Amino acid sequence: MEASVRFPDGFLWGAATAAYQIEGAAHDDGRGPSIWDTFSRTPGKVHAGHTGDVACDHYHRYPQDVALMAELGLQAYRFSVSWPRIQPDGAGPVNPRGLDFYDRLVDALHGRGIDPIVTLYHWDLPQSLEDRGGWPNRETAERFAEYAVAVHARLGDRVGTWTTLNEPWCSAYLGYGNGVHAPGRQDPADTFAAVHHLLLGHGLAGRALRAAGVDTLGITLNPAAVFPADPDSAADLAAAHLVDGLHNRIFYDPLLLGRYPEDVLAHIDRFTDTAFLQDGDEKIINEPLDLLGINYYAPTYVAGRPDAAGGGGAYPGTEGIEFKAPTGPVTDMGWMIEPAGLTRLLERIARDYPPVPLMITENGAAFADKFGGDERDRVPDADRISYLDGHLRAVHEAIARGVDLRGYLVWSLLDNFEWAEGYRKRFGIIHVDYQTQRRVPKDSALWYQDVIRRNGL
Ligand code: FCB
Repeated sequence: MEASVRFPDGFLWGAATAAYQIEGAAHDDGRGPSIWDTFSRTPGKVHAGHTGDVACDHYHRYPQDVALMAELGLQAYRFSVSWPRIQPDGAGPVNPRGLDFYDRLVDALHGRGIDPIVTLYHWDLPQSLEDRGGWPNRETAERFAEYAVAVHARLGDRVGTWTTLNEPWCSAYLGYGNGVHAPGRQDPADTFAAVHHLLLGHGLAGRALRAAGVDTLGITLNPAAVFPADPDSAADLAAAHLVDGLHNRIFYDPLLLGRYPEDVLAHIDRFTDTAFLQDGDEKIINEPLDLLGINYYAPTYVAGRPDAAGGGGAYPGTEGIEFKAPTGPVTDMGWMIEPAGLTRLLERIARDYPPVPLMITENGAAFADKFGGDERDRVPDADRISYLDGHLRAVHEAIARGVDLRGYLVWSLLDNFEWAEGYRKRFGIIHVDYQTQRRVPKDSALWYQDVIRRNGL
């Protein structure tokens, strides 16, 4: 049967994961501690005290996982490199045994015709760099660039696409702002210093990778698809504009336009003198990009509540803004399901910024999957299929409206360690039994296999 929704020829289909969420092997081959090792051991921070010590044991089981990817027909696999495996102390000589793992993984992927997409930083900062100040400290940006070069020196001959950071908004605002993620600090000034040094780290690494011959340089952000709760309310429109500034423009403007947005700098001057911003930094951050990764899960609706401005916001800078509870269907994370938000977001980025090819580097959903019972080897996750189907249609719609979007990577290949939620939220298209480490493709994986085969829905 002819697919009714067809994607452009050459559209890239794949899946994504991140090191700390799947690898386990926390003490193998000289890996040092990361901020997530420390954070997950801090009582009350992660659901039920779960840690990434074992996770999906992907470090040892990667051959089987790559075979599963091949079975599903994946054309690309986005994974992250664990900085503390490469530099256990976050600086200085590399640990060759850490690099060996990614070497084997990349070879295994190529052996199956799967294109590796590397993310250099998906949140697992070496603990010793946090002990020296973490991302609020400028030195971390410099260390990051050195680390990037070291990884590239080993894998650069076989990896074409290099992504510096995953969702720096989360690293800064959740890690240093509201403390929900590692390292769990709560300091508005540190939050904005972290934003800047993450971006600077991206720019320094990007420059160095370019000099080393990288042809596709990217970064992945999680832009907020933010809308006013009442589009006729001036207060709600102002709230949406501010959240757009704190979440989106504070990253996209320096990356793509070479300067921070004035209104956002003015807004955050209540927290920081921005002395961290030095001459020439914005130029470094403005390193040309070949690919912009977009992670999307849910839209955000906000209302302005100026009278409540005295109370704390959801994260620094959002005092006086109400984030509306979702209406309609939600995922197991409680995140609102609204595919149209993705189309609007993609169109907006394409409209407001200079042209850069886009890729969906994460999209997917957690649901409380039912496994076992009569059909022992099936996970009938119709809700996930419907989520993915809706979002792929939204992506297709954006392409039809002229957005230059090159591929789609589902989050996630495997059920995994969902940060502060531990293992209780399942995002995988492949079910993982954490007792036995047995993998079973869910119905959504088989459905996705068919989507890839048909290049459409
Ligand atoms: C994103 C993260 C990813 C995963 C999904 C659900 O913010 O990049 O690691 O946790 O959310």
